[in-house]
Amino acid sequence: MITNKKVTLIVTGSVAVYKSLHLVRLLKKANNDVRVVMTEAATKFVQPLAFETLSKNRVLDDSFEPENPSEVKHIDIADSSDVVIVAPATADILAKIANGIADNMASTILLATTAPTFIVPAMNSHMYDNPATQRNLQTIREDGDHILEPDTGFLAEGYSGKGRMPEPEKIVDWVSSEIEPNDQLLLGKKIIVSAGGTREPIDPVRYITNHSSGKMGFAVAKAAADAGAEVTIVAANTSLPTPAGVKIVPVSTAVELADEITSRFPNADGLVMAAAVADFRPKNVADHKIKKQADQDTMTIELEKNPDIVKQIAANKRSDQFVVGFAAETNDLVENAQKKIASKKLDLIVANDVSGKGVGFNSDNNQVTFIFADGHQQKTPVESKQTIANELVKIIGEF
Ligand code: C5P
Repeated sequence: MITNKKVTLIVTGSVAVYKSLHLVRLLKKANNDVRVVMTEAATKFVQPLAFETLSKNRVLDDSFEPENPSEVKHIDIADSSDVVIVAPATADILAKIANGIADNMASTILLATTAPTFIVPAMNSHMYDNPATQRNLQTIREDGDHILEPDTGFLAEGYSGKGRMPEPEKIVDWVSSEIEPNDQLLLGKKIIVSAGGTREPIDPVRYITNHSSGKMGFAVAKAAADAGAEVTIVAANTSLPTPAGVKIVPVSTAVELADEITSRFPNADGLVMAAAVADFRPKNVADHKIKKQADQDTMTIELEKNPDIVKQIAANKRSDQFVVGFAAETNDLVENAQKKIASKKLDLIVANDVSGKGVGFNSDNNQVTFIFADGHQQKTPVESKQTIANELVKIIGEF
């Protein structure tokens, strides 16, 4: 829970401003010192007095004149905030944040602050979907700020779409889960994480592989290590820096990956299988580079099945061990992932749609649905792989 923090709440001009009054109440109730900053447009929807009454602090807007002229108020606020929340965030403020524009009190504080910043966009669905807004959101994410996706529903324009500001309770939960570290949650646990994509050799110079970068698995390893676990990454063909305190075991093929995991699992508390394993490998691996014939138009490579590592591990696990699988899908995400959790007898499957732009393979962001063995599901917004990994560690901590 976000509590005892200096929270700066930046309110920009959307009809959703009224919801931010309740957000202030929730933050105050949890003992936070809340300072509200309003853009001029926001003050047209709700009077600053309403926010002043609830926050018990003076509202800062563009007409603000400091009682003490020696204070540079926007810098003072930017420096002293523990957390900055922008809710509702209009397309205009997103464009300013993405481009470093500082032309009013709100945007100046946002440019100056080094505090973790949480942005809650709310606007017309067409404005939200506009490529310029999506580009700005992507830039803001890459710059490290947190973004909560808007809800879909009835908009003030009289039609339904994606752009509604989520309810204040949801915003408080989201900020809380992002800032609360998973400290010591997995203390004393030994966890194996697989990452990367296997390579199945055809001959000494060629192989079959996939687009996995290993980023998701490395993020999980970091999150688990940050939560106090002893972590080993069995890494298939990755070139990422090893997270601090994590042991790395490099492998290449599915069979090598299977051997390393199978020998280590009996001494582990759990496995997170984030590697993309080739289902098949060339049946015969040539010991020399295969040459094409002058008149050759086609070529056939016979493939044989690789072991289903996670299935074998889960089938033989002890009741005090857990196994988490991943499912990268391009269609019928939840349906396919549900089949996998059942057939592979997993405790949890992290399903992600890899067909979307800006998420999945090689990207720093992802959007996943956690599917539990009892069938219930939890869908994340598009967020950084590290944030998703932290959420996964929270779930594992409750196993
Ligand atoms: O490839 P598929 O979508 O079935 O992958 C689902 C899960 O199974 C993933 O966690 C993946 O790492 C694992 N898997 C495996 N061995 C295979 C294929 C997939 O452990 N041969």
